[in-house]
Amino acid sequence: MGKDVIIACDFASKNETLDFLGCFAERKPFVKIGMELFYAEGPDIVRQIKARGHKIFLDLKLHDIPTTVKKAMKVLSGLDVDMTNLHAAGASAMMKDALEGLTRPDGSRPLLIAVTQLTSTDGESLKNDILIDKPMEQVVMHYAATAARAGLDGVVCSPLEVKAVKETCGKPFLTVTPGIRFADGDKGDQKRVTTPAVAKELGSDYIVVGRPITKAADPAAAYYECVKQFLD
Ligand code: C5P
Repeated sequence: MGKDVIIACDFASKNETLDFLGCFAERKPFVKIGMELFYAEGPDIVRQIKARGHKIFLDLKLHDIPTTVKKAMKVLSGLDVDMTNLHAAGASAMMKDALEGLTRPDGSRPLLIAVTQLTSTDGESLKNDILIDKPMEQVVMHYAATAARAGLDGVVCSPLEVKAVKETCGKPFLTVTPGIRFADGDKGDQKRVTTPAVAKELGSDYIVVGRPITKAADPAAAYYECVKQFLD
């Protein structure tokens, strides 16, 4: 599975999602399904989107004791998703068990990506709430290195962190990067943004793009522009 543009389908219902996916005729986008849609519609939404020929990143960010995560991952592997994720904060044993659970009897498995520190946490919440007294960048790189050693395939990070992640974890370790905006686009609540072209230059493996496509007047045109900038 090579580099690609993943559309964050942050919709509340199946109908809205399937209507949206009906816009794409020439190329079936890789789609990200998050907690809201999955909890609203259940596993069937994954099966339906998969049956339409899309690759799926199931973004459920698992974090629990190793046995529980392993069993949950086993269920997800049966859904035939292409990529899923967990919190690196669950530690090495949880990540290793997650990989085992995700591996199908034939040895194949979806890509498993780690979330390091949520971008909603900052130095202050790290220190005061989670009692981590180290700089954010050091924490993120340490979590990425722990995920790599546990055998995971990559991390979610900003395109601006790709270089450091690759230096720490090796070039094949994947970087899945949100925070993408067109040069003239609305940033919304994203703070540090890059264009698809810059994400490509920085060496990102997958860009995750939500509102610049889902809220565009012509979503298909916005998607093809991302593909052109990031993949051509
Ligand atoms: O609409 P937008 O392009 O900002 O959507 C980005 C997607 O990536 C959303 O689904 C968001 O939850 C997700 N994401 C993020 N930043 C992270 C992790 C995930 O924006 N650090």
